[in-house]
Amino acid sequence: MALSMLPLLALSALFVYPNIVSANTNFTCSADSTRSCQTYLTYRARPPYANLGNISDLFGISRLSIAQANKLTSENKLLYDQLLLIPVKCSCIENSYFANVTYSIKKGDSFYVVATSVFQNVTNYLITYVWQPKDDMNPSLNPTNLTVGEPVVFPLLCKCPALFQNQDKYLITYVWQPKDEILQVSSMFNTSSYNIVNENSFRNFTAAACLPVLIPVSKLPIFPPPGFKSKRSKKGEITFIVLGNFGSFFFYLFCHGF
Ligand SMILES: *[C@@H]1O[C@H](CO)[C@@H](O)[C@H](O)[C@H]1NC(C)=O
Ligand SMILES: *[C@@H]1O[C@H](CO)[C@@H](O)[C@H](O)[C@H]1NC(C)=O
Ligand SMILES: *[C@@H]1O[C@H](CO)[C@@H](O)[C@H](O)[C@H]1NC(C)=O
Ligand SMILES: *[C@@H]1O[C@H](CO)[C@@H](O)[C@H](O)[C@H]1NC(C)=O
Ligand SMILES: *[C@@H]1O[C@H](CO)[C@@H](O)[C@H](O)[C@H]1NC(C)=O
Ligand SMILES: *[C@@H]1O[C@H](CO)[C@@H](O)[C@H](O)[C@H]1NC(C)=O
Ligand SMILES: *[C@@H]1O[C@H](CO)[C@@H](O)[C@H](O)[C@H]1NC(C)=O
Repeated sequence: MALSMLPLLALSALFVYPNIVSANTNFTCSADSTRSCQTYLTYRARPPYANLGNISDLFGISRLSIAQANKLTSENKLLYDQLLLIPVKCSCIENSYFANVTYSIKKGDSFYVVATSVFQNVTNYLITYVWQPKDDMNPSLNPTNLTVGEPVVFPLLCKCPALFQNQDKYLITYVWQPKDEILQVSSMFNTSSYNIVNENSFRNFTAAACLPVLIPVSKLPIFPPPGFKSKRSKKGEITFIVLGNFGSFFFYLFCHGF
């Protein structure tokens, strides 16, 4: 009986395969993974974190390191929504890669607000929430009653390339935007579409809106300024609205906080 079922199993495995692989982006590490690396995550300049000074303070790094990563002169004024590369140290902690950032709680903050709005979803709100009670540095932390000025570690998602991934020098953490498409993102990062899809376990990118994904690159990208769009994409947006996938449209607005 077992034998006669084999072809059927093989067949079903074949059809089920895309569902199995289209899981999520894998930010985990194992015993034989690279322990730590210098890598980058992306961040959009938006008030109140809209200049090199307060973005570098937020991530606890120097202005110069952000300026260098983005080939900016320190006087450069950032444009609204300008995409920046933020250099971080990524480490394998327990079984996941994280870049720790210590954030000082401000009035009105909650874990949700800091994870989704201040850090722009480059972390997962649930991870930040679950992570905190384990933190030996803040034993008094009460996640439901944060005190203004209290330092809280936010684990941001990142990943180090595996040793065999030699041509992918960096895996950049990027938060997928609802309007993003693979081709446009791969051209923005000047990298291969296939490598992006493959690195993210062939996940459903539509469902990845507002969530962090990994972009493998062999060389650091230089991002075009915000609003740099071909005429085609403006027309595309109008068509999109007219055709009216209302769910996605509202999600788009929602995610951008219009
Ligand atoms: C996720 O990535 C880690 C590190 O590269 C690897 O050890 C692990 O097997 C991957 N997990 C899956 C489910 O692919
Ligand atoms: C960032 O700097 C700007 C200009 O100096 C300031 O208005 C804003 O409040 C600062 N943001 C934070 C979070 O301190
Ligand atoms: C990051 O923070 C976690 C929890 O606070 C801690 O266990 C870990 O050692 C920190 N890692 C680094 C590299 O600072
Ligand atoms: C929150 O913490 C503050 C000071 O740490 C305390 O005065 C207040 O009673 C707490 N609020 C709640 C609802 O536990
Ligand atoms: C894109 O990558 C290729 C190959 O690495 C390189 O030759 C080219 O200069 C890059 N283009 C930009 C705009 O960075
Ligand atoms: C991908 O995700 C979107 C949004 O969650 C969903 O509508 C769509 O059916 C999914 N596509 C596949 C092939 O699962
Ligand atoms: C982060 O994700 C949440 C929930 O999906 C969304 O409401 C929020 O707008 C996102 N933040 C940013 C900066 O895109």
